[in-house]
Amino acid sequence: MKMEQKLNTGFGTHFVQSLLLPFLVGLITYGLNLVRGYFTLGLLLEPVSHVSDIVGPTGVVYAVEFSHRSGRDLVNMAKKRTNVIPIIEDARHPSKYRMLVGMVDVIFSDVAQPDQARIPALNASYFLKAEGHFVISIKANCIDSTQPAVAVFDSEVNKLKQDQFRPAEQVTLEPYERDHACVVGGYRVSKKSKPAS
Ligand SMILES: C[S@@+](CC[C@H](N)C(=O)[O-])C[C@H]1O[C@@H](n2cnc3c(N)ncnc32)[C@H](O)[C@@H]1O
Repeated sequence: MKMEQKLNTGFGTHFVQSLLLPFLVGLITYGLNLVRGYFTLGLLLEPVSHVSDIVGPTGVVYAVEFSHRSGRDLVNMAKKRTNVIPIIEDARHPSKYRMLVGMVDVIFSDVAQPDQARIPALNASYFLKAEGHFVISIKANCIDSTQPAVAVFDSEVNKLKQDQFRPAEQVTLEPYERDHACVVGGYRVSKKSKPAS
């Protein structure tokens, strides 16, 4: 999907900007209609509820969030949505919650932190299946507001590559979010697998 393409989804702008666009890119790129385990880092209620609908009753969404306030909302949501497992922890320390999480097909991360490439890489090393997929949001001004956003995106994508992520597509979230990009791709992709076009 090219970023110029317009989405007319009927969902609110918040959902479109935060999750739907990158998720659709992921779906279109990989045909992820059989996702069972979905691991989200730093997503709030609305996106998690949509992912919960997408994976359905046979899927699981592990949602890690360190803010206690948002965490309380997640816990309340999980009482109604039994496929959501809320984890109120700092995503920089996956060893603290590894006993709660199975291997997953997809990691989505939108933590907006200076180490926003390292956090999903660390979690992927614990929980993401080989040949699984990632959707990672990069917020340039959390990393270096003095550099052009494009330079920051390039540098973060290079870090992801060093951690066994193979980016396949990158879109900006303009006009919904400034200086914000989303990268999707594969994890520990074997040399034989062709990158998605
Ligand atoms: C930019 S917001 C994500 C918003 C998301 N796109 C949405 O619409 O719901 C970043 C979220 O990540 C959480 N977060 C940031 N650093 C985190 C960390 N180290 N561990 C867990 N959650 C974190 C924040 O509390 C916040 O809720």
